[in-house]
Amino acid sequence: MAAMTIAKLAKMKAEGDKIASLTAYDASFSKLFSQHGVDFMLVGDSLGNVVLGASSTLPVTTENIAYHTRAVRNGAPEAFVIADMPFMSYATPEQACQEAATLMRAGANMVKLEGGDWLLDTIRQLVTHGVPVCAHLGLLPQSVNVLGGYKVQGKEASAAENTLRQALALQEAGAQMLVLECVPASLAKRITEQLSIPTIGIGAGKDCDGQILVMHDMLGLNSDYLPKFVKDFLAEAGDLAAAVELYVRQVKDGSFPGPEHSFKG
Ligand code: KIV
Ligand code: NA
Repeated sequence: MAAMTIAKLAKMKAEGDKIASLTAYDASFSKLFSQHGVDFMLVGDSLGNVVLGASSTLPVTTENIAYHTRAVRNGAPEAFVIADMPFMSYATPEQACQEAATLMRAGANMVKLEGGDWLLDTIRQLVTHGVPVCAHLGLLPQSVNVLGGYKVQGKEASAAENTLRQALALQEAGAQMLVLECVPASLAKRITEQLSIPTIGIGAGKDCDGQILVMHDMLGLNSDYLPKFVKDFLAEAGDLAAAVELYVRQVKDGSFPGPEHSFKG
């Protein structure tokens, strides 16, 4: 199988082919996902929640993400792998470049950062130094203590306009992909139409260029709390490979996420 690249993912947006992605943290699942049609994988700092068992992503370090990025890369040598930059690892452009180098050396193809305007210079520096960037707007789990909880973002008209403006600025600064988390479907649709880079939604409705879920959520492993945007594909499909194929198929044909998994403005 030829390697997946950012150019191919950009072409998928241009041609209207939906992008199906999942988080991954180890070689076994990375191999399974890449063999059953997942277009790219994210080594998310959600590993703080689903692997470590913490109540937020804040305890995760760059070394933690690097360790899991190595595992995911080993399981799928040709896959496109994004590594999350964890909390407080990109407070300045210089720090971001240092920490991103660790993740790229571990096998990442791209790094992901949470935030808007304050990151523009950091993104320019990373891209200049050869590190592709995925931005992340909407609900920012690393800022949960500032936000006061995990809530839908961008509901008020002014917040929606601000999110759209920041999305355009992030693209202008050099971001090549954008994750939109927990925003109204109508806002995600507007952003997706206005950007030339792919948007990847989680709790952001069906009109994003692609979708991502935390793998544990789509396998029904998250028993304490199921967010509205999650669907248990394993329950419906019966085994792991079939669950991954069902998820990929439903993202590609536009049947997932449905309105019941999405937020209104
Ligand atoms: O850490 C993570 O899993 C993420 C996705 C939810 C986008 O950032
Ligand atoms: Na994350």
